[in-house]
Amino acid sequence: MFKSLTRKKSIESIMASSRAQDATEGHGVTGLHRVLTARDLTFFGIAAIIGAGSFSSLGGAVFAGGPGVVVLFILCGIACGFTAFCYAEFASRVPVAGSAYTYAYASFGELMAWIIGWALLMEYSIGNIYVSFSWSDYFTTLMGKFGVHIPDYLACSYKEASIAVKAGDNIPDLINAWNTAPQIGGLRLIMDLPAFLINIAITYLVYRGMKESRNISNVMVVLKLAAIALVILVGGYLIFANDLFHNWTPPNASGVRSFMPNGFGGVLAAVSGVFFAYIGFDAVSVLAEEAKDPQKDLPKGMITSLIICTIVYIILSLILTGAVNFEKFAGIGDPLAFIFEEDNLNVSWMVTLIAFIAVVAMTSVLLVFQMGQPRIWMSMSRDGLLPPAFQKIHPKYRTPSFATIVTGFVVGLPIFFTDKNFVLDFTSIGTLFAFVLVCGGVLLLPEKPKVKGQFHLPNINSQYIFPILIISTIIGLSLRKGGYFSELLNGDFSDHSEGAGQELFNFQSISVKIATIIFWLTCLILSVFAYLKKFSLIPLLGLVSCLYLLTGMSGSNWLWFFGWFAVGLIIYFAYGYKKSNLNTSTV
Ligand code: ALA
Repeated sequence: MFKSLTRKKSIESIMASSRAQDATEGHGVTGLHRVLTARDLTFFGIAAIIGAGSFSSLGGAVFAGGPGVVVLFILCGIACGFTAFCYAEFASRVPVAGSAYTYAYASFGELMAWIIGWALLMEYSIGNIYVSFSWSDYFTTLMGKFGVHIPDYLACSYKEASIAVKAGDNIPDLINAWNTAPQIGGLRLIMDLPAFLINIAITYLVYRGMKESRNISNVMVVLKLAAIALVILVGGYLIFANDLFHNWTPPNASGVRSFMPNGFGGVLAAVSGVFFAYIGFDAVSVLAEEAKDPQKDLPKGMITSLIICTIVYIILSLILTGAVNFEKFAGIGDPLAFIFEEDNLNVSWMVTLIAFIAVVAMTSVLLVFQMGQPRIWMSMSRDGLLPPAFQKIHPKYRTPSFATIVTGFVVGLPIFFTDKNFVLDFTSIGTLFAFVLVCGGVLLLPEKPKVKGQFHLPNINSQYIFPILIISTIIGLSLRKGGYFSELLNGDFSDHSEGAGQELFNFQSISVKIATIIFWLTCLILSVFAYLKKFSLIPLLGLVSCLYLLTGMSGSNWLWFFGWFAVGLIIYFAYGYKKSNLNTSTV
């Protein structure tokens, strides 16, 4: 049994089944259109990365962490950077669609591949639910500016409104939605209609084909980068002109000025929102079969887009926290527009412009994610883990037609039942988990011969460096004032956080503590393995940094994650385990 769960596809057989598909579907040319260059892939990366994270969830992150949230952006950028190298290594070895799923099949075996495919569903589909909600928020504001009022009960989710009413929150739009919604049999008709409709439009566009999607996506990327540049320039100028530097060191609960007014605990509590902002660079890897030269261009596209976005995020969070005191970001879902409102920097044309650009930016994220999901299903179907319909390619548009339509349903239907916060956490934990497996997978890959023109992960031996790094970090933290480890083991770990983020951090401190203890034990075990097995340093650091970010997740995130995980396993054993090509030996 264990052996069949770890049955692996060799890289050769993965390539062979992709070529067989090419021949069947495209008479010798690939079944999908190979039209994407390195520049297109970089644009796709940026299209996927910059979206709801910067335009929406950044508000909550800044509120929790204060200006110090910049540190979390740097940490997440580093974690994603290491992970991007790992994706790039895999993508250069296995240039077929399917992303981390396909990579896991080659290194960990079938069960892990299924789990990772299942986790990616959280990233792409559940992530797109969050982006759809954020898109709708900005779209509604924009329509309002043009005099078109969308009723509140058609512009928010049922769950959001009912939670706000039950909690007695003072959020006028949600309370109004609840009070004014028409009722059928006592059930209030509250739904986020724009979020649902944009999902239908995007599904249609993706169904129609890559070329159209690429052109639209490229235009949107240029537009949103121009807008962000404007936020940085106008915001930056006003910070200097109005001498607002004091906002970078606001007073904490004890009145002491600090870059991290809620301590590092407050910064780490923002991990879901900040990490969400980075999700997307990996989506480039699902386009392997549509890239002209995947072995060279995929790594280039992924790494370049990640570097550009990291720089943008660092500057953007400095502008936000410089423009307005971080405590004002409580409950703010449109932070980039918010800093230009009357009470803040007071530039009204920027508010309208940002609302418009946010709609554009988030449309491009929706597009890329909606394209990624069907391609992962297509790969899983080729392996026999999903029904054959998922690998059907449209004869005219050459897109995975059935899988695209199913994606439309998977994103569209939950829009009626879920809310933003829930899907944000759920997406981040699932994606981090997938990243951990990708970095771990690279550690297990055999060395490959160097081929000119292909990407190669720099092979730095971690045998001494990694254990020294971990042990010196442990010693450094132990010597720190307050004794990090004694607090961790004895009790008051949350002492480091004060003020607004304190409550949030305390709420999750037990799960954070357990996760942190497990994290340090894992680091020690990995140090031993690094020494014995001479692991490559970059994937090892990727693994450890993603594991560290996971320690910021709350207990309820973990519960939902494990529930989701269990459902995935049930489906695998009910279908994929028996129907797998590796079981029926058709490959
Ligand atoms: N990083 C993507 C966004 O922020 C998911 O919308």
